[in-house]
Amino acid sequence: MTLRVAQWATGAVGREAVLGVLGAPGLELVAVKVHGSDKVGVDAGELVGLPPLGVRTTQDLAELLAAAPDCVVYTPRVAHVAEVADLLRAGVDVVTTAFCFHPARMSAADRAVLEQAAYAGGATLHGSGLNPGNFGMAVPLALSGLVRELRTVSLVERADWSAYESTRITFDNMRFGAPPAQVDEGASEFLAFNADLFRQQVWLIGDALGAELDEVVTEHSVGTATEPIPVFDRTIAPGTVNAQRWTWTGRARGTAKVVVDCLWSIGAAPADWPRAQHGWTVQLEGEPSVQAHLTTLASFAEPRSLADHVRAASAATAMQVVNAIPAVCAAAPGFATAESLPLVRSLQGFRPAVAAAGA
Ligand SMILES: NC(=O)c1ccc[n+]([C@@H]2O[C@H](COP(=O)([O-])OP(=O)(O)OC[C@H]3O[C@@H](n4cnc5c(N)ncnc54)[C@H](OP(=O)(O)O)[C@@H]3O)[C@@H](O)[C@H]2O)c1
Repeated sequence: MTLRVAQWATGAVGREAVLGVLGAPGLELVAVKVHGSDKVGVDAGELVGLPPLGVRTTQDLAELLAAAPDCVVYTPRVAHVAEVADLLRAGVDVVTTAFCFHPARMSAADRAVLEQAAYAGGATLHGSGLNPGNFGMAVPLALSGLVRELRTVSLVERADWSAYESTRITFDNMRFGAPPAQVDEGASEFLAFNADLFRQQVWLIGDALGAELDEVVTEHSVGTATEPIPVFDRTIAPGTVNAQRWTWTGRARGTAKVVVDCLWSIGAAPADWPRAQHGWTVQLEGEPSVQAHLTTLASFAEPRSLADHVRAASAATAMQVVNAIPAVCAAAPGFATAESLPLVRSLQGFRPAVAAAGA
């Protein structure tokens, strides 16, 4: 059976998701909803560098629903619970990279809205991606299969955001380039929202592996630029934030059990930061202990441009949810998580990629 898929938002992740849907046997792209007025009414192929696909972009939810999608890939810059609830109520499954990674630990009010909508529509919602997502939830859970007794699970992410092309997320959402006082959960609705997503991830590992966490504590510190740092169309001015360290620690009776430590900078990092290898390091300390270092690149075998390597992270983020679509569509109504879903694997696999325009 072919599953009909609609794409919601065509930013860095959304465009990769479109390519993923096109390449996956058993998935058919039936609608594309865009946010920007400049992208309305064009053929979706144009947005992803492909010949016409026969799917015209729309801003209209009714048009998207008229295409009768089984599933929507929801990847907007800012997630709206009401939008997702409308989709679920209409009986459409939703996979998203934007939120809802461990609904059991999200805001009770948001969970109630989404849960009621999902049951009313008989639909399922799944949130995942790269981190939060595969590297922070699926990989630690998979590695735990090697371990008898766990003491700690940690994930360290070391990333330089200067090459991340979604500068609205980098500057407007994450507040890089803002004065330090404005880069705080208390000063930014988005930073508070984002911190909650990582807290959910820590809770998920703790809940899934019996850590009996009492709390997840957030620590946050920033570093500032000493000289102007250009980032695509923007600049980090001296004295504004160019580095953020976020540490989320799940504790049981005062002991750290699950830690996610994100070391994010644009340019030089503060001297007192721990030295961490670029990418993601997952470590399970226990009997026995296991460690894996993970990176995404466009290729390890062939030379590729920096832009291609950067896009690889967006592609990985998108594919984690696109590849989950058949399992999500088969799941019971309600929520599906990295814990409840079976192993998500590549749907396209070794099959040839969708040809780019002119290729
Ligand atoms: N879990 C993970 O590992 C992970 C990793 C990376 C990103 N993400 C999340 O995935 C989502 C997409 O990221 P991205 O890199 O694709 O972002 P992006 O490049 O900034 O694109 C997001 C798209 O959202 C639409 N948009 C613009 N302004 C908006 C607004 N005010 N409200 C709602 N939508 C708006 C636009 O769609 P159109 O272009 O169609 O108009 C835009 O291209 C974000 O929520 C991001 O936080 C998750």
